[in-house]
Amino acid sequence: MKISNETIKRELYSVTQDIIKLFNLESIHDLGEYIKNSIDNGNFEKLLQLYVEWLGDDTTDWIQAVYQYNQADRDKLKQDYTPQSLSKLLAKMIKCEPETVYDVCSGSGSLTLQIHKQYPNAQYILHELDDNVIPYLLLNLALNNVNATVINGDVLSGDTFKVYYVHNKHIEQLDHYELTKYDVVVSNPPFNLKNNGNKKFLKHVVDHSINQGMIILYKPPIKDKEEIKYMQHLLDKNLLYRIIYNPDRLFTSTTTITSILEIRHNKQNTSLYLQDCTYYKSEEIRHQNGQFGGNSHTGRTYHKKFNCYDDEHIERIANIWRGPRTIEWSTNQIKAEEIPSNLMNISNPIGLLYGDSDEIQKALDEKQKALDEKQKALDEKQKKEYQEAVMKMARALLSVDLAKEEMRKKLITPERKKAKWIIKCHGFPPEPTTVCSECGFDRDFNVRARGFGKIKYCPGCGRRII
Ligand SMILES: C[S@@+](CC[C@H](N)C(=O)[O-])C[C@H]1O[C@@H](n2cnc3c(N)ncnc32)[C@H](O)[C@@H]1O
Repeated sequence: MKISNETIKRELYSVTQDIIKLFNLESIHDLGEYIKNSIDNGNFEKLLQLYVEWLGDDTTDWIQAVYQYNQADRDKLKQDYTPQSLSKLLAKMIKCEPETVYDVCSGSGSLTLQIHKQYPNAQYILHELDDNVIPYLLLNLALNNVNATVINGDVLSGDTFKVYYVHNKHIEQLDHYELTKYDVVVSNPPFNLKNNGNKKFLKHVVDHSINQGMIILYKPPIKDKEEIKYMQHLLDKNLLYRIIYNPDRLFTSTTTITSILEIRHNKQNTSLYLQDCTYYKSEEIRHQNGQFGGNSHTGRTYHKKFNCYDDEHIERIANIWRGPRTIEWSTNQIKAEEIPSNLMNISNPIGLLYGDSDEIQKALDEKQKALDEKQKALDEKQKKEYQEAVMKMARALLSVDLAKEEMRKKLITPERKKAKWIIKCHGFPPEPTTVCSECGFDRDFNVRARGFGKIKYCPGCGRRII
């Protein structure tokens, strides 16, 4: 059943409505339960088929978007799901041929889906606490044909509630699963949980990786004492390979600025790369119809703007492009608490590579050129407006002068050279005023107003008064 013909540029509200109709749900909040039941009743394949038909060639991860908007627990579980371009970057950063990939705190599977595109034959292990998102995750894995083991459990306490095995789009439940070490471990865990959550998730990534570990965390500086201690341990052991500073406004649901920490276990030297990627950003617009409030909201499509990495950025960053925004340090020359929050503020960093200063100059020149052009256009506009105003004023003055002249010519004729003041009554109660018999000029008012003395000529028509 194809509900919406449009396969690209869909918008979240209509997608939600489509899904409700597709599975005959009362509300989108029933979707998780519906997926779970169809797994238990053996109807999962049918559900998947319906979804695939509806999706068509659309490559958007609507499963993530629908969950994020309608059900994510951002408060306790910090369910802020990773945007596609950031997940793509992590996938591109992998520098081995992994046979096993472990996604810690996997959510709806954003990181795994992008890595799977690069390494379709690897085995994937995903770990997620919240059983609300588990059905969405299973659907996403089956939809993308990922072979995976999904552990529904708590990474921090080690408790496991359920284990699923997704294979060739089938889903079955396993009795248990024993964690081991994996070629690559990735994670976007919840930040800043109490009791040193950041350190514990980071340690989990380090302890379970064989080659590489990549974790999305908040942007340095690191403030918590325990975290500093652990980071220092990573520096001392020469395990920290690089820190990438991401641009702002990448995530749909949070403005938190993030970084990526990369762990490498078999480093050949002590290099530590700090990459400032805050300027490598493109803009992405996500469409969404208003869903709450009056007609002015519900009848409107919002075009929300976010930052993202484009493919060129991803390629450069993943391969440590040695431009001016990359600093190469040595793990034994830096202390954990000295890891800076902004690379461009460092006056004299050790080993700073200005390998590509031409590139920065070019970017600055282009920016200046754009600014100059904008200023020029503004100046032109102002000049034109000013000229038009002056012309308008001149035209108005000229027409007043011409009208005055016309009037004068009409009034001063040889036969009517003299005028006299006469008393007239205006208004009620009557107010006598003295006016010119020829032109009606109001002497009382104007004389007072202009402060004239005795008048021999009428200031209105210029005639001599007798
Ligand atoms: C920031 S979200 C990121 C999800 C996903 N990795 C992504 O990139 O889209 C963090 C996820 O960790 C899960 N989580 C929170 N605490 C956890 C824990 N103790 N063990 C396992 N997962 C946890 C949350 O439910 C949430 O889905």
